[in-house]
Amino acid sequence: MGRRALLATGAALAAAVGAAAEPVPDNVRAQRRGTASGAPPATTAIDFHGPRQAGVTGPQLPATQMLSLDLPPTSATADRETLRNVLAALTRTLSTAAAGTLPDPRLRTGETTRLACVVGVGTALASRLGLNVPAELADLPPFPGDRLDAARGNGDVLLQLCAADRWTPTVVAELAAAAAQSAGAVSRWTQSGFLPHTAPGITPRNLFGFKDGTANPDDTAAVRWVWGPPGAHRNGTILVYRRIHMDVAGFAAVPEDRQNRIIGRRAGDGVPLTGTAEHDDPDIYAKHPDGSYVIPVTSHVRLSSPRLDGGARMLRRSYNYDDGPNDRGLLFCAFMRDPALFTRVQNRMAARDALIPFIEHRASAVAYILPGINPGGTLGEQLWT
Ligand code: HEM
Repeated sequence: MGRRALLATGAALAAAVGAAAEPVPDNVRAQRRGTASGAPPATTAIDFHGPRQAGVTGPQLPATQMLSLDLPPTSATADRETLRNVLAALTRTLSTAAAGTLPDPRLRTGETTRLACVVGVGTALASRLGLNVPAELADLPPFPGDRLDAARGNGDVLLQLCAADRWTPTVVAELAAAAAQSAGAVSRWTQSGFLPHTAPGITPRNLFGFKDGTANPDDTAAVRWVWGPPGAHRNGTILVYRRIHMDVAGFAAVPEDRQNRIIGRRAGDGVPLTGTAEHDDPDIYAKHPDGSYVIPVTSHVRLSSPRLDGGARMLRRSYNYDDGPNDRGLLFCAFMRDPALFTRVQNRMAARDALIPFIEHRASAVAYILPGINPGGTLGEQLWT
């Protein structure tokens, strides 16, 4: 099947499903087809269209480029018009890029483009323009230990572009920024990130060497905890982004047994200290004969456990970053229905997580990730109602 035929099939599928809220949208299901692991065949384009944005739901691709834009404030009416134009420009550029038909010589790689996009609207803009966004969308409170650089965080419009390597997201981010600028936006910050290439179904590792992303909600749990409630926002979600500096050398100097107790899982295979397989549910209540917890009270897995939050879950799709010898860490990216969950977990971590001496939060952003669109639609259609 040629690329054009594949794209036509994807578009027909997306049109057929309309905006129905399936636990697994068909643009994602179509990508997963043909492999037992859930990873798409590497030659299949990623459909930009569908009820939900494919950059949240599809397999996590190993390279990311994030881009944040601002809308210089004028009047609410004029700024609403600017936002409409910016979202229209981004929709055009990103849908064309994902289809592999952007006329930029740098994108003629001779291979099928596989670009997964996420577009969102920042908290400050949503309240300034009185946009129709989920009631839960709100800024995060300050946390103990934060050392946030405003120039590397926040923003009115947030993009995350992911692909198999840095080339495509870097070039497309530049073109998307140019398109948004012609519509009235200005660039605020960019950030690149990466994961190790892993076989389909294998959890990637962070720079501390641990598998990161093991305990994520399945599609059914995501309908309850990640995607919006029934109504206009049911196919949208909220992204909490934190740029977290990691003391990679300091953590590497810690004996592996202690590292395992800091996290609550084994570094080598990601198995929880109470289990025998990576995907075993960590039992935070299991005790040693001496009465101490097997997953220590200060361990990261205990303090971030959904059992302490009435079962509430976030979908973590973080990336590593390397911005020089003294600035490496994690681009923590988590999607959730209600960012109050992040606040609860982060407050527990800040109080006693054994990871804290090795990490520092240096930038932050919260954005409403817009529902997906059908071919011919424009991102953000529900913001104005
Ligand atoms: C650099 C900072 C961080 C590192 C290195 C880190 C690392 C890890 C690792 C290795 C795991 C276990 C494997 C997995 O389930 O993915 C994990 C789980 C988790 N982390 Fe983090 N994490 C960091 C920051 C955070 C932050 C800031 C939050 C939220 C406030 C968070 C929330 C979670 C959650 C919810 C889980 C899953 C818990 C469960 O369901 O068992 N993490 N993290």
